Amino acid sequence: MIAFLAPSALSLSRLAVLVHLLAIPSTSSFWFANIKRQGKIPYGNSNTSYNIFRNVKDYGAIGDGVTDDTIAINNAISDGNRCGLGCDSSTTSPAIVYFPAGTYAVSTPIIMYYMTQMVGDPTHMPTLLALPNFQGIGVLDADRYLPYGINWYTNQNNFYRQVRNFVIDITRVDLGYAHGIHWQVAQATSLQNIVFNMRTDGQDDGTNKQEGIFMDNGSGGLLEDLVFNGGGICAFFGNQQFTTRNLTFNNCATAVFQNWGWVWAYKSFTFNNCQIGIDITQGGSVVTAGSVILQDSVFNNVQTGILTTFSTNSTPVSGGTTVVDNVDFTGASVAIAFPNGTTILPGGSHVQSWVQGRVYSAFYAQEQVGNLTCYLPQANSARIQQTVGPPPKPLALLTANGTIVERGKPQYEDVELSAFISVKDHNAKGDGVTDDTAAIQAIFDNAQPGQIIYFDHGAYVISSTVNVPKDIKIQGEIWPMIMALGSSPAFSDPNNPQPVFRIGQPGDVGTIEITELVFETLGPAPGAILTEWNLAGTTPGAAAMWDTHWRIGGSAGTNLQSDRCTKAPGVIHGANSTCIGAFLLLHVAQTGSVLMANNWGWVADHELDLQDHDQIDIYNGRGALIESEGGGVWMYGTSFEHSMLYNYQIANAKNVYMGVIQSETAYMQNNPNALTPSTPSSSFSDPDFGWCSPVVYTCPKTWGLRIYNSTYIFNYGAGLYSFFNNYDQGCLLTESCQEFMVSVEESEAVYLYALSTKAATTMLSIDEVAIVPESENEDSFCQTVAIFEYP
Ligand SMILES: *[C@@H]1O[C@H](CO)[C@@H](O)[C@H](O)[C@H]1NC(C)=O
Ligand SMILES: *[C@@H]1O[C@H](CO)[C@@H](O)[C@H](O)[C@H]1NC(C)=O
Ligand SMILES: *[C@@H]1O[C@H](CO)[C@@H](O)[C@H](O)[C@H]1NC(C)=O
Ligand SMILES: *[C@@H]1O[C@H](CO)[C@@H](O)[C@H](O)[C@H]1NC(C)=O
Ligand SMILES: *[C@@H]1O[C@H](CO)[C@@H](O)[C@H](O)[C@H]1NC(C)=O
Ligand SMILES: *[C@@H]1O[C@H](CO)[C@@H](O)[C@H](O)[C@H]1NC(C)=O
Ligand SMILES: *[C@@H]1O[C@H](CO)[C@@H](O)[C@H](O)[C@H]1NC(C)=O
Ligand SMILES: *[C@@H]1O[C@H](CO)[C@@H](O)[C@H](O)[C@H]1NC(C)=O
Repeated sequence: MIAFLAPSALSLSRLAVLVHLLAIPSTSSFWFANIKRQGKIPYGNSNTSYNIFRNVKDYGAIGDGVTDDTIAINNAISDGNRCGLGCDSSTTSPAIVYFPAGTYAVSTPIIMYYMTQMVGDPTHMPTLLALPNFQGIGVLDADRYLPYGINWYTNQNNFYRQVRNFVIDITRVDLGYAHGIHWQVAQATSLQNIVFNMRTDGQDDGTNKQEGIFMDNGSGGLLEDLVFNGGGICAFFGNQQFTTRNLTFNNCATAVFQNWGWVWAYKSFTFNNCQIGIDITQGGSVVTAGSVILQDSVFNNVQTGILTTFSTNSTPVSGGTTVVDNVDFTGASVAIAFPNGTTILPGGSHVQSWVQGRVYSAFYAQEQVGNLTCYLPQANSARIQQTVGPPPKPLALLTANGTIVERGKPQYEDVELSAFISVKDHNAKGDGVTDDTAAIQAIFDNAQPGQIIYFDHGAYVISSTVNVPKDIKIQGEIWPMIMALGSSPAFSDPNNPQPVFRIGQPGDVGTIEITELVFETLGPAPGAILTEWNLAGTTPGAAAMWDTHWRIGGSAGTNLQSDRCTKAPGVIHGANSTCIGAFLLLHVAQTGSVLMANNWGWVADHELDLQDHDQIDIYNGRGALIESEGGGVWMYGTSFEHSMLYNYQIANAKNVYMGVIQSETAYMQNNPNALTPSTPSSSFSDPDFGWCSPVVYTCPKTWGLRIYNSTYIFNYGAGLYSFFNNYDQGCLLTESCQEFMVSVEESEAVYLYALSTKAATTMLSIDEVAIVPESENEDSFCQTVAIFEYP
């Protein structure tokens, strides 16, 4: 019938637009589109008419698939004097940019300013369509390039971003060069629920250069629930470390190209009809990728699962360390191969555990010291490229089919708007000054089943413990801040620390979902435990926290900024009491069980808001303490940085799964060292560094990871870095900024995969005895071990 409608190209495309427009609902049932927007910026932004929430249609975007919406969308993002070129960072101009259903055509990149969330309607996913004349680095650009490779934002400081619920379509663009997203980002960033549509021609002769994600550098982060269709390289990954989960690759030439990296975890990937699954050949026999983990994944109709150049002779010795854990290669012709076509591991089967890299198997051995018989920890080690025995994963951590439990961030797209209870509608001020403790406690106490407590953007000052009951859901609006008031008696005594948010009472079993909060201190709060988690989930993962962070100092409103806490490496000093942070950021207590994803516990090493962006000294006692006794802890994409005693401590715990964990030792150490200002407390199982030699000043430094009195601890990927001695990087020349990084004490059933440390002379010790030296584990940047196991 179409022939009767004068089928010129023009009218056909008009018809297509018309049909398309008729299919778009004029209103959305998505609560996010309709909720009353009353969030306000509490600190550091004097513009009282500033809009946090922007609907691109209010800025003139048409979304008809034909009109070029680039300018309108970019206006929606940049409106209000936000943090763009020359700004570097700011927490005082956040923006949510919302896209209703529609097809938004663009001809140049959509430029994501700092602290922007781009959110599409998940009930009718909007499409971002690159027009045939599209020019630029990507349909979305998270970090603009200037000439000479200079960026708007320092790539490893490009924090606080989200993109979710989009179809990104580059099928109309030339084969030669086009990217869906230029994602050059760092911590507290995520991509979720995005479909990348790319061309499928030119895959056989290599002329298809289309890429879904182009990630050139940075430090992150989490990617989840992504689908890639077509393309030359579906995901081009180069970044220090990342956790990625639930990615599906359909009809890609190469699904993943690992350009470089220190440690990357790939969890629950599905590869369908691809030539190559993961390509880790960059650099040839001088491998640029540090380590890669592929876990709980499936290949269907794939020619080569993994391509690698790790071999007997490749360098550095640990470069290209690869861990394969529960991967179904039944649908791969070849599971693992060299680029010259030589098979390393044949396809056609389900592989429980395979590694390339150095493995350490630790045990206690009898030794004769003079006339004394001693038992001392030791380890056998070898550099291997082969199938190995699988670890004894406890059922408590697994799903019915043997994969590690996982759960994406909820978006509540099927929940009625009326279920959302705004805290600002119920007496909380969120103005950064008023004490909101009683108002928030009352809101939690009155919450009904099925309701979602909505924290409008703001800063909520808390002066004593808030008890968060079980069976509750909390959703923040672009990272509202929970401010522990340091001057309150509850949070000022390090000898009697108190929780700020206590999640469930000890022994409680129930459900809880917390999404998008930031915990901070308002001034020094040496007696504050910012989050204490007692609740166990009714089912694995039913007690969970996503995109929720801790940020101590370095930002507006904290009273811990560069105007009073700037570093002072030139003088020997203690911990200035005006620059102390909290006692502990996160405590998962004995009865607690939690699934966490994309959580960053950052003791600020530099200023985000004041113009100088100087490095600062904040003395925060402890990072994350996990004491869960067996119900299960799952940590996806977490990072704890710059606390004094430790960043991660697992104590008296059982059944803990960690995807990539990342930490950095406090930069000012050893001026002062880890023991200042905290007094180690036995009730928190603190390390006391008692065995450090007094002459080795690099010994009492932040533990990256300490495992004490614990069993069944599984870590799939660690990047634990020490970059300084009192801000001096000279120690990097000899890779000796720190003596020890990981301590395993009085524990067993400890399995660490792709353990990467930076500049720690001893990577790991057992019961105070050095076991894994860095010297034999050199990698492109870090030092890396494929497996450390201590059964
Ligand atoms: C204040 O914010 C509004 C809306 O975000 C913006 O249009 C306006 O230009 C801003 N004013 C100033 C002075 O930056
Ligand atoms: C980031 O990656 C780009 C592209 O590969 C490169 O040009 C740039 O120099 C890198 N920046 C840094 C700081 O490494
Ligand atoms: C994986 O992502 C898809 C969307 O891409 C989603 O529908 C599915 O529920 C996700 N599965 C898990 C286990 O997160
Ligand atoms: C686990 O089960 C899910 C759903 O039944 C299936 O999609 C997935 O392929 C399985 N994973 C593995 C690694 O067997
Ligand atoms: C292929 O490459 C590997 C690793 O470099 C090497 O050991 C092997 O001999 C090569 N095979 C052929 C047939 O060249
Ligand atoms: C063990 O040797 C020490 C000196 O090295 C000596 O003092 C002690 O008496 C010896 N003990 C036994 C039981 O022989
Ligand atoms: C602590 O910091 C404050 C604010 O910068 C400063 O005035 C004071 O002199 C410092 N105290 C010491 C002992 O360095
Ligand atoms: C070790 O942890 C268990 C719980 O798993 C606890 O009962 C015991 O008291 C702990 N021991 C020490 C010395 O802390």
